[in-house]
Amino acid sequence: MTDPRKKYQEYLWAPFTQMGDLDEEVEPLVIVSGEGSRVTNSEGKEFIDAHGALWLNSVGFGRQEMVDAVSQQMEQLSYFPSFAGMANDVVLDLAERLVRTADQENMSRAFFSSGGSEAVETALKMARQYWRLSGTDRKYKVISRRGAYHGVTMGALSATGMAMNRRLFEPLVPGFRHIEPPNCYRCPYELTHPECQLTCARELERTIQFEGPDTVAAFIGEPAMGAGGVIIPPDGYWQEIERICRKYEVLLISDEVITGFGRTGEMFGCRHWGVKPDIMVFAKGLSSGYLPLGATLATEELFEVCLGKWGEGREFRHGTTYSGHPSACATALVNLKIIEEEDLVQRSKENGAYLLERLQELKSMPLVRNINGLGLLVRMELAQEDDTPLPAEDMTGLNVVRRAMRRGVIVRALGDVISVSPPLVITRDEIDTVVDVLAEEIEGIS
Ligand SMILES: Cc1ncc(COP(=O)(O)O)c(C=O)c1O
Repeated sequence: MTDPRKKYQEYLWAPFTQMGDLDEEVEPLVIVSGEGSRVTNSEGKEFIDAHGALWLNSVGFGRQEMVDAVSQQMEQLSYFPSFAGMANDVVLDLAERLVRTADQENMSRAFFSSGGSEAVETALKMARQYWRLSGTDRKYKVISRRGAYHGVTMGALSATGMAMNRRLFEPLVPGFRHIEPPNCYRCPYELTHPECQLTCARELERTIQFEGPDTVAAFIGEPAMGAGGVIIPPDGYWQEIERICRKYEVLLISDEVITGFGRTGEMFGCRHWGVKPDIMVFAKGLSSGYLPLGATLATEELFEVCLGKWGEGREFRHGTTYSGHPSACATALVNLKIIEEEDLVQRSKENGAYLLERLQELKSMPLVRNINGLGLLVRMELAQEDDTPLPAEDMTGLNVVRRAMRRGVIVRALGDVISVSPPLVITRDEIDTVVDVLAEEIEGIS
């Protein structure tokens, strides 16, 4: 490839990137190939991708089964829509597979899109249509959490609770409200669990009461928050959220874009707490990123209200051209087969426990404070010894990540939280390398 840096700087408009910050010292990381948990850049240097690209690679790079499935599918049928009484055979197979996989959650219908933001939009529109057709016209508000990430399209962004993402695009969609997240390390109420009695969950009840239960359509949350700093809620949090949703007839939407399909050591994040959502949202690990794909699953009750009985002429006037793209669906079918056959959910649980245990060894280091995780969704927060945050302008997290990258380990900085979320197939040796490099680089800047 001729001078990728020049192409990067002259032609690309990269998402979520302060492109002007890439100076002489910081090269764009241009990856050209991948195998297992490792990727190689344009200069032939190998890295352990300990962030699963963007929290999405479950089965690892370079899986020949995926390649074969896509090429076979493209030869057989490049595309056919699912609109207006049509379908392709692969979307039907995947819908069945997903509904069966989410059997415990009582999911009964699958609607497809091209990624997480679209899948969240779909969920929000399902919720609004459900209440409209239930004869409850006023139930349109959606409650989510500060710090949550639900995507970038206007509805998903309205549910997102990150001020920086929202500011330049306001006004956003009316009817969205935000409550505090279940962040026990930096409790927004400055309380301690369990004495807090889950104030953050009970805030949902207070907010619903304040808004008026007859106006609230849905609550949306990630079982464990990802981009907002990998926040694992305390036990009891989700049960309380579910209880409140049921009490006030508020639909519960589980945004499983990161937590779906084994990332947290359970098939779905909500399963850790036995929660049964009304709608589940998937993307990322659904296809391990081999092709873009999102899915929104709903209960039969929701589907029946939205569409009515056959012959009543009701429809969900929503859908994008690539809903149910056969090649994308083919990657998901193979991806789910690999997850099952190689027992990757269990591996995520075991390797996640090992990664946590190894990271705990770093706890004696001056900057290392909070370490937490669920399966292979793991965080390590850097802070001062008394837990006060490090000065933002020092960009300590980012410095650690950049130093680790020079040593061949890719992790991600969310402020001063180091997020580690490798492919579920990562080996113990690779985990050891990741932890050793992180330890040395944190030592290096302390
Ligand atoms: C929990 C969650 N929801 C939704 C999204 C949006 O997905 P996408 O980037 O595919 O639109 C993301 C992306 O990171 C996410 O983490």
